[in-house]
Amino acid sequence: MTTDHQHDVLIIGSGAAGLSLALHLDQKLNIAVISKKELKETNTYYAQGGISVVLDEEDSIASHVKDTLDAGAGLCDEETVQLVVENGPSNIDWLLKGGVNFTRDDSAESSGGYHLTQEGGHSHRRVIHAADATGREVETTLQGQVRARSNIEIFEHHIAIDLITSEKEQTKHQKRCYGAYILDHKSNHVQTFRARFVVLATGGASKVYLYTSNPDVSTGDGIAMAWRAGCRVANMEFIQFHPTCLYHPEAKSFLISEAVRGEGGQLKLPDGSRFMDRFDERGELAPRDIVARAIDHEMKRIGADCLYLDISHKPAEFIQEHFPTIYQRCLEFGIDMSKQPIPVVPAAHYTCGGVMADHKARTDVAGLYVVGESAYTGLHGANRMASNSLLECLVFAKLAAEDIQELDSTTAEPPQIAPWDESRVTEPDEEVVVSHNWDELRHFMWDYVGIVRSNKRLVRARRRVDLLQREIVEYYSNFRVSMDLLELRNLVDVADMIIRSAQSRRESRGLHFTLDFPYRDDRVQNKPTILIPEGYSPY
Ligand code: FAD
Ligand code: SIN
Repeated sequence: MTTDHQHDVLIIGSGAAGLSLALHLDQKLNIAVISKKELKETNTYYAQGGISVVLDEEDSIASHVKDTLDAGAGLCDEETVQLVVENGPSNIDWLLKGGVNFTRDDSAESSGGYHLTQEGGHSHRRVIHAADATGREVETTLQGQVRARSNIEIFEHHIAIDLITSEKEQTKHQKRCYGAYILDHKSNHVQTFRARFVVLATGGASKVYLYTSNPDVSTGDGIAMAWRAGCRVANMEFIQFHPTCLYHPEAKSFLISEAVRGEGGQLKLPDGSRFMDRFDERGELAPRDIVARAIDHEMKRIGADCLYLDISHKPAEFIQEHFPTIYQRCLEFGIDMSKQPIPVVPAAHYTCGGVMADHKARTDVAGLYVVGESAYTGLHGANRMASNSLLECLVFAKLAAEDIQELDSTTAEPPQIAPWDESRVTEPDEEVVVSHNWDELRHFMWDYVGIVRSNKRLVRARRRVDLLQREIVEYYSNFRVSMDLLELRNLVDVADMIIRSAQSRRESRGLHFTLDFPYRDDRVQNKPTILIPEGYSPY
């Protein structure tokens, strides 16, 4: 017996993108917010550095646009960049009015009394932040507001399995989304959620790699679901590796913010010498792709397990004031960053590609929207500039909300939907298949489709992913679904998209670097990589 829920808007995901969208919608609408774990367990919560925005009188929209385009290595969509950057200040104002406490600096008159920090690729100080835990401040404030709204129903520990869509509509040749099948993984029941509008705000896919800065929820579910529902997906080869995650056997995924380099942190080899100036004249503040590759190169060259980030030349009070969370966390592992360098390694951090969205966050399927890290809007191009992601979440959430509001009165209720059919499946017989395949996938993606790629490595990865896909489809068809199985199924689909996109880009650009085509080729390759699902036809 399946429970059938019905809402006006179904939002899958409770990070900055999903929650701000829910809050922008009219309170007359009845909204469901779905979260795979507890509400706060999102990438957003762990964001450290801040949100890039033009606030300083000496900064300009043109400069933020130019820096974003430069970091994106020729693949950003200029109109999207302009749209996002221009809408930055009003969205930050919305957060401030909602009670987000950003770090103040009363002497900073030119930026309205807010302290702005600097990160790689930015030619100005323009990152507004709440010390080194910006995401925690944003997420908890938004959560407080969402929980106080009586029109928003929250479903924690629920994982969306697949979207429910119509066949193509006769006139527009476009499918329509009517909701999703969702597993309550505490009770183990699959439920049907019907809605007039469905929003994917499911974040990125960095868990496809063995080492990542992301929490466990980042398994690319929204990207895989949208692909299976018939949406185009773009630029999946551009996976951003953050240069500096803490290297310690027990420090799972802990990030050392780029703001540490922004405030003077220096990257060093084990012998204490600096090396970044050999790779880029901007040194430690070069865009992330360059810094991550430089670290990877030096680690391989000297056979080191990690390199070092050193800010111990700054006064201890400065470090404790600016980086209280990082300072404390490092101390827990016996590292006093005010006295010694921090051991660091690169790790998968951000999915620049995603489900194709227009400037209203609409996808190829009518009634289906995508916002935040799961979306491809054209903002990031071949490399996302630091702190542009939360900004994109906020701007597109608002644009999507405005579009939903506009279509509200003309969008009909969804039809009745067949319940989830479990009549032909049984309890899983060998769960080791799932756990083994999780490990295998993440290992070969790290080894073969990581910071440095090659034709041979991609072919090897392709062979393995084909086999895994076959095994998972078979397992999925025969056994009752579980959270691990659903995530693995999505990760394998996303891995397939990353490898196919990487194979089709026969050049090196931004975050995609291959030994076989080490140079950028502007003659034929300066366009996004668009994957087209079976049966897709433009409407
Ligand atoms: P998320 O915040 O990741 O939320 C995803 C949501 O989707 C979660 O609620 C999850 O449970 C839910 N979900 C996923 N799949 C399903 C499913 N199948 N069913 C139900 N729910 C599902 N960016 C910046 O701009 N500035 C920073 O300083 C910054 N620092 C960062 C530091 C770290 C350590 C990390 C990991 C990222 C950082 N980023 C930063 C990137 C930024 O945090 C993310 O890109 C952004 O928060 C993504 O927001 P989102 O709302 O799209 O997704
Ligand atoms: C960081 O603080 O280094 C993360 C910033 C980001 O990913 O934008």
